[in-house]
Amino acid sequence: MRYETNGGDRPAMRAGSPRTAAVEAAARIVAAGGRRAAVGVVLGTGLGGLADRLEDRWVMPAADTGWLATSMATGHAGRIVFGTLSGVPVAMLQGRVHGYEGFPPETLTRGVELLVALGVRRLLLTNASGGLRPDMVSGELVVVTEHIDLVRRPWGQALEPRADGTSCVTFYDSALAETAIGAVRRANVAARKGTYAFLSGPSYETRAEYRMLRRIGADVVGMSTVPEVVAAARMGVPLVACSVVTNVARPDAPDKTDAEDVCRMAATAAEGVWAILGAVVAQGGNPPCAS
Ligand code: HPA
Repeated sequence: MRYETNGGDRPAMRAGSPRTAAVEAAARIVAAGGRRAAVGVVLGTGLGGLADRLEDRWVMPAADTGWLATSMATGHAGRIVFGTLSGVPVAMLQGRVHGYEGFPPETLTRGVELLVALGVRRLLLTNASGGLRPDMVSGELVVVTEHIDLVRRPWGQALEPRADGTSCVTFYDSALAETAIGAVRRANVAARKGTYAFLSGPSYETRAEYRMLRRIGADVVGMSTVPEVVAAARMGVPLVACSVVTNVARPDAPDKTDAEDVCRMAATAAEGVWAILGAVVAQGGNPPCAS
């Protein structure tokens, strides 16, 4: 078995491929009318409506894929949507499942495994988060360039080991992150790069936890995405992750947050996320580390 590094300063990761069951699900979905895609997107809380903007759509409920689990979380419709954007085939997952819903680690990576099995060569992962910097405003976007995994389970372990071990693996693709920041700013939406802290939820943080997260260097906090990031990196697929700040943690002037507020606020960031997708789709040529 061959091991490799994922950027020099992080521990080595074993290269992997989607599980056989994901490849079989992809084949079934394509046979039923779905399509192979070049770009894959996971639409987080409140962002599911972006799938309606694709042209030439074809939709399948997660439950009919025989592979994806269905989320019960607010704002996660649980469907896979195929379509095109500027002529490029795109596959979108409307919603994802979370550890706090009781799903084990191997279930949390099924979505990205399916997207990779459908042929995607670039991924856009989106989520809603709590902003930890006092100068943040609700509705701004953070392009994630690092994460702090405070849940720490074996996220990529279920993937098939890869004999060739030749993929290049970095968690967050720096060129795609630059592309994303530029695209959001051109769309006149506030954006910055930042570090995402991953907690298991389901409750939002206490004031003391928000303070701690800020001190350890996190810019935003949320309850998803890191398992997908680790799995995608193992599969050698370049990705950009973007987080919509739906509430700003002000430990000394606390405010109440609930799932409906988070959904509503995430939807206001749709233009910025759509701008990122447009830029990812427009990136010509081969990705730097195709699987
Ligand atoms: N904490 C964790 N997850 C979140 C938050 C938050 O404040 N807001 C949206 N998702």
